[in-house]
Amino acid sequence: MSKIKRIAVFTSGGDAPGMNAAIRAVVRTATYHDLHIYGIKRGYDGMINGQISRLETSEVGNIIHRGGTVLKTARSMGFMTEEGRKQAYEQLKAYDIDGLVAIGGNGTLTGAMKFSEEFNIPIIGLPGTIDNDLYGSDHTIGFDTALNTAIEAIDKVRDTADSHNRIFFVEVMGRHSGFIALHTGIGSGASSILIPEADKDINNLKDTLKKGLKRKKLFGVIVVAEGNKYGGAMEVAKKFSEENSAYEVKVTVIGHLQRGGSPTCADRVLASRLGHSAVEALIDGKRDVMVGVINNKVCFTPFIDAIEKQKSASQDLINMAEILAL
Ligand code: F6P
Repeated sequence: MSKIKRIAVFTSGGDAPGMNAAIRAVVRTATYHDLHIYGIKRGYDGMINGQISRLETSEVGNIIHRGGTVLKTARSMGFMTEEGRKQAYEQLKAYDIDGLVAIGGNGTLTGAMKFSEEFNIPIIGLPGTIDNDLYGSDHTIGFDTALNTAIEAIDKVRDTADSHNRIFFVEVMGRHSGFIALHTGIGSGASSILIPEADKDINNLKDTLKKGLKRKKLFGVIVVAEGNKYGGAMEVAKKFSEENSAYEVKVTVIGHLQRGGSPTCADRVLASRLGHSAVEALIDGKRDVMVGVINNKVCFTPFIDAIEKQKSASQDLINMAEILAL
């Protein structure tokens, strides 16, 4: 028999489309197993301030298709302090909460690991970030939606780039990782893709564009991950223009558009699977792991690995992108 009786769910860090589908799955699965389920508003900040209330199954109706997070989110400074975490623990104790489901990215799981070590509270993490940069899941919640949002924008940029014979540098998100850039670059047929994982020199761009010119391609779309070695698209475009004044250069930053919007079906299904599995894992006595899906199978990865091991962009995809852009 499980000892777990009362669990709480929260979202933290940058929001990601599909978080609501995950919250719904957590609440519905917990209710099915006769657990008391609580929602914590605004992530770790809300935990510290006691923004905790019961969630009924009806309250998560009609949210599966909505972007953002109904529980709201925050990047908490307070939780980084010992005092903040102690306060958060006192709040949970007041509600007799004996298990947590944490939905978020690297920072969220780092906080969860520390909290569990200090206060011995079982936590299951869900990878919720558009960046797709967590080890232990092929995809993170929100990644697929962000890709589709970005690609729609890049396709539009491509039309105007073609009409005017211009070079566009399009910046996509992904703080330290190039997953969004690599996938949207391939999917949009970009002339070149600049990501932190492949140390491409800016001078190569000139050669790439020259090759295009040879086959009468007079425009270019270059997808830039915000975390590439030169900085964002603005910096790359400036540096490129300084040495290549013959080209007419423009910059588009897609930005937070990538974080919002209705989640794709793939994100809804992933989030539902992960939310459901997280609750069953707590009931089974699992703790301090991130639940993910690898090769279509649900699996559990210790927090320390999910946070510290590198899930790197596939070298095969990087090579292929180069060939297809010839
Ligand atoms: O981690 C998700 C993410 O969207 C990153 O891609 C981006 O660098 C960062 O969050 C932006 O954070 P904020 O919304 O706090 O500015």
